[in-house]
Amino acid sequence: MNITLSTGKIIPIEMHKVKIVQKTNLPSSKRRLEAINEAGYNTFLLRTRDVFLDMLTDSGTNAMSDNQLGAMMVSDEAYAGSESFYKLADAVKEVLGFKYLLPVHQGRAAEHLLAKAFVKPGDVVPMNYHFTTTKAHVDLAGGKVAEIFKEGALETASSNPFKGNLDPAKLEALVKQHGVAHIPFVRMEATTNLIGGQPFSMANLREVKAMAASFGIPLVFDGSLISENAYFIQQREPEFKGATIQQVITELMKNVDIFYMSGRKSAAVRGGLIATNEKKFYDAILPWLPVYEGFATYGGMSTKEVEAMAVGLREMTEQAVASSGADFIQYFVNRLEEEGVPVVTPAGGLACHLDAMRFLPHIPQAQYPAGALAAAFYIASGVRGMERGTVSMDRDAQGNDVMSDLELLRLAVPRRLYTMSHIEYAVDRVKWLYAHREMVGGLQFVEEPPVLRFFFGRLEPVGDWGVQLAAAFRADFGDEF
Ligand code: F0G
Repeated sequence: MNITLSTGKIIPIEMHKVKIVQKTNLPSSKRRLEAINEAGYNTFLLRTRDVFLDMLTDSGTNAMSDNQLGAMMVSDEAYAGSESFYKLADAVKEVLGFKYLLPVHQGRAAEHLLAKAFVKPGDVVPMNYHFTTTKAHVDLAGGKVAEIFKEGALETASSNPFKGNLDPAKLEALVKQHGVAHIPFVRMEATTNLIGGQPFSMANLREVKAMAASFGIPLVFDGSLISENAYFIQQREPEFKGATIQQVITELMKNVDIFYMSGRKSAAVRGGLIATNEKKFYDAILPWLPVYEGFATYGGMSTKEVEAMAVGLREMTEQAVASSGADFIQYFVNRLEEEGVPVVTPAGGLACHLDAMRFLPHIPQAQYPAGALAAAFYIASGVRGMERGTVSMDRDAQGNDVMSDLELLRLAVPRRLYTMSHIEYAVDRVKWLYAHREMVGGLQFVEEPPVLRFFFGRLEPVGDWGVQLAAAFRADFGDEF
């Protein structure tokens, strides 16, 4: 939630109190240089004891509520027929309006099952934008992703409130080109992760649904950040001014045939689910659930998480919860813009994104500017962000790099986890790095896995810029920080 101070300044305000804390540690820049070398210049390979603020992701890292923790204590540990499952099913019905529920251990498990049940070799899956794991599962099933976003979606400096919109005209052309039989479903990702957490509008969803329905193609909704997308609709789409988050969600779900989500984000747990009102979809997926996940009443989740997810789903419809991450991100983005740092605008869900192509224009894309920025920012701050650029794209069949549309450093803002001074610290260190940006050089792979290489790949700096950067930092801030 935002609050206006007597000076007129607007700040995000925490509508919660801190009840439990975890200590964090700010390693010196000397240690940070060692740690990033040990990690092969890949922030995924850092140990958290070397991380001050963990802005790698908002996945499974959000602060849980007292009610969620309380619910975990009364979970019903049963392999089959657990009461916890029925509580989650009630929440899914109440919040999302679906009668069939398939729990899974996390979002990509839902994607795996959807690809297994519906995607055949040669199929094309249109979507507003891909997510890494979604694309991997579509590819592994022999299909291809078609990204059919609207013009302007990839402009990082923008005032378009709905860069996550899908282009219905392109959808029509795609169906005509490939034929209905080769398009198993259309996927809408609620706030497009890889292009800066950008939402789609209700008007667009309705249009996409109508177009898909006219061909008899089901609409799949990735609701991993559903409460954020609903919040942006409430804030940015005039029809929904004054509507509650629940009202927006209810309206969104009218357009959805199959819903799935990573519960690790909006619902603040560690799990996932698929839900639908159509028995034929449920029946197509159900047989695979015990093969890959677990029995139908826990789906690979601990029953404690099942309980917490039921509470998390209801809580994400509260205004203060739905806005908690987004308002901090907006503040973060505004502050960096004030400092002249190139960031993705408008602010989206999930994270504040720095535009590495504008931040480090001297680094060619083949030397991974977003990866270099992630490593450089860690050296300068102890803050761990995530590369979202070409390192996150796997090579093509010929072994060539596939250049990403965007090169972003994502600084995730997990919900209710960090405070204003943490954000101000991150802003200050980005500002310092921006002033020293010409020192940062490129990266090259040393070890490169074939699939989702960004997770375990190891890189090295081209030249010794890491050492130079750490030395410049020490000269300004001393040995301690
Ligand atoms: N869909 C979206 C839009 C996501 O952002 C994610 C995960 C998934 C699906 C997969 O869910 O992780 O529970 O298996 N995003 C995480 C991230 C990994 O860091 O952005 P998962």
